[in-house]
Amino acid sequence: TGALRGVVALDGPSGTGKTTVARKLAARLGAGYLDTGAMYRIVTLAVLRAGDDPADSDAVGHRAHEADFTIGTTPDHPELRLAGEDVAADIRGPEVTQAVSAVSAVPQVRELLVSRQRRIIADVLAETGGIVVEGRDIGTVVAPESPLKVYLTASADVRAARRSGQDSAAGRQSSVEAARESVQRRDHLDSTRATSPLRAAEDAVPVDTSELTIDQVIVALSELACRRGLLE
Ligand code: DC
Repeated sequence: TGALRGVVALDGPSGTGKTTVARKLAARLGAGYLDTGAMYRIVTLAVLRAGDDPADSDAVGHRAHEADFTIGTTPDHPELRLAGEDVAADIRGPEVTQAVSAVSAVPQVRELLVSRQRRIIADVLAETGGIVVEGRDIGTVVAPESPLKVYLTASADVRAARRSGQDSAAGRQSSVEAARESVQRRDHLDSTRATSPLRAAEDAVPVDTSELTIDQVIVALSELACRRGLLE
């Protein structure tokens, strides 16, 4: 496999393996990597730490503009900092996961983050030539010109089991039932919000990961990129 040229847009709900797939694919194709969900999570952490109400969209919009955060684009070790502090673990905690859908539904937050995402993508393309970007609205809003858009899905059971496994691995208490509820609640909020809801772009390739290993998904996506002439 050669190096990726251009943007691969990877969208889909949580528990589909998106983050692992995006990072490993980027590493394999010598490309940059951007986890846009992590950006919504960092803003959510800033909101919670400041004691703002996640349901207060004015306060949340204001906090997003004030928050001083950075996100790395190296697939092996993407750094996430809020006011200089490494927050990679904190943003995956249950408090952030619970509040992130409300925060990411605020139009000012989306406007701010989408413009930062586009800038990061342009910088990485100028430097490395290729980037894998994962999120909910990459193919539809952030990078609609992307030459390869993929929409990952998986059955509700598989997604709940994966999420619960991730939580346990990270040392957080978790049951499959609780994970299923959390995943379904977030899907509902993310796909029914007014501003750029979760949905597949019309020209996205759907990939059902229920029966596939991470490596099989990566092989499938590398082949797609190759067939589109994106590897050189
Ligand atoms: O992928 P994730 O679970 O880390 O995403 C966290 C939340 O951020 C998700 O519930 C919805 C929001 N999000 C979004 O609205 N748009 C994106 N491009 C990425 C994530």
